Amino acid sequence: FGNGALRGLKVVVSAGPTYEDIDPVRFIGNRSSGKMGFAVAEAAVHAGAQVTLIAGPVGLPSPAGLRQRVDVRSAAQMHAAVLAASQDAQIYIAAAAVGDYRPAEVADHKIKKQAGADLTLQLAENPDILGSLSAQTVHPFLVGFAAETHDVAAYAQDKLKRKGLDMIAANQVGGGLGFEAADNALQLFWPGGSLSLARANKDELARQLVAQVAERYQAVRA
Ligand code: PMT
Repeated sequence: FGNGALRGLKVVVSAGPTYEDIDPVRFIGNRSSGKMGFAVAEAAVHAGAQVTLIAGPVGLPSPAGLRQRVDVRSAAQMHAAVLAASQDAQIYIAAAAVGDYRPAEVADHKIKKQAGADLTLQLAENPDILGSLSAQTVHPFLVGFAAETHDVAAYAQDKLKRKGLDMIAANQVGGGLGFEAADNALQLFWPGGSLSLARANKDELARQLVAQVAERYQAVRA
């Protein structure tokens, strides 16, 4: 590998979870480890791209050869970082599992337990990063991910249309695949086509995904 399929292109990749703070010691997060997104960033570097990796809170070392890595915590921070990095990018690949909601208020002090009483957290909707990019008149080629537990293809095709994406990579989560796991399997959809990438480790799948992204990008943008 290292075929130069993305040579000369600026690619932004998001990876990992977001953490939405409740108070100074608690947060709402998710099970994303960042492995899939980091593998995609590395594969894009090997394909010759100048890669900016926007990483949520993960414990992973940067792939060699990145142009830039920006570490963020919340969905709002990831939104700002992705928008800034995407202004001069040709491709954005969104592998991050972004929290859809955040606590409406972040408490300044640790919330104290009130014995015998339930606690209700009010949640506010987070901005949709892919949605804000696709709403811009000029925007990069947009590749989304979809993590689903059932009806993977139907939900993915709906997200492809609704979010105005150029491609979506759908993964069924559970059964040793998806979040946290070493392996994954992907079903790719784009307007007018689809391709299944069989179960493999995330590095191998990332190479296959990046090859398909390069091919579709050349078909519609070059
Ligand atoms: O990190 P790993 O442990 O390796 O696991 C990989 C993964 C399962 C997290 C990854 O392969 C994956 O599927 N990532 C997307 C997970 C997800 O939460 O998808 P979603 O259906 O909630 O969101 C769909 C798409 O919209 C995603 O590209 C997401 O980045 C994007 N999104 C979501 C919410 C939001 N506010 N803004 C967004 O841009």
